Amino acid sequence: MRRFHEQHGILTEAWSPLGQGAILDEPTILRIAEELGRTAAQVVLRWHVQLGNIVIPKSVTPARIEENFRIFDFELDEEHMRAIEGLDAGDGGRIGPDPVTFAVV
Ligand SMILES: NC(=O)c1ccc[n+]([C@@H]2O[C@H](COP(=O)([O-])OP(=O)(O)OC[C@H]3O[C@@H](n4cnc5c(N)ncnc54)[C@H](OP(=O)(O)O)[C@@H]3O)[C@@H](O)[C@H]2O)c1
Repeated sequence: MRRFHEQHGILTEAWSPLGQGAILDEPTILRIAEELGRTAAQVVLRWHVQLGNIVIPKSVTPARIEENFRIFDFELDEEHMRAIEGLDAGDGGRIGPDPVTFAVV
């Protein structure tokens, strides 16, 4: 989908970029967060930004809103990016439609 967007000058926006909070205790995310001294949410948001996704995380918690902005002073390396990409759980782990099979009606 991102390839299609690139060809057509479209910016991709993440839908529920933190998985509505459900992926923040995922062991791979926690491992990377610990390695970098960051929070799980910061690691996930940074992954999106490095991929080129637009992120609009939602929080009603002021401290989390601030935390979610502090993602521009560190980087994930290739191994981190690949490890997070490898977490794609297919339909079983989705909270929204799969962009690969989503049908426009
Ligand atoms: N137009 C559409 O069809 C559509 C569909 C889906 C989503 N959206 C929009 O996209 C935005 C985000 O989506 P979303 O709300 O579904 O999911 P999301 O941003 O992935 O996750 C929000 C959840 O993560 C928690 N959270 C946020 N920052 C956190 C942090 N640093 N640490 C731990 N937990 C954190 C929030 O808790 P607290 O709030 O309790 O802090 C909330 O429970 C929203 O503005 C939503 O309206 C639009």
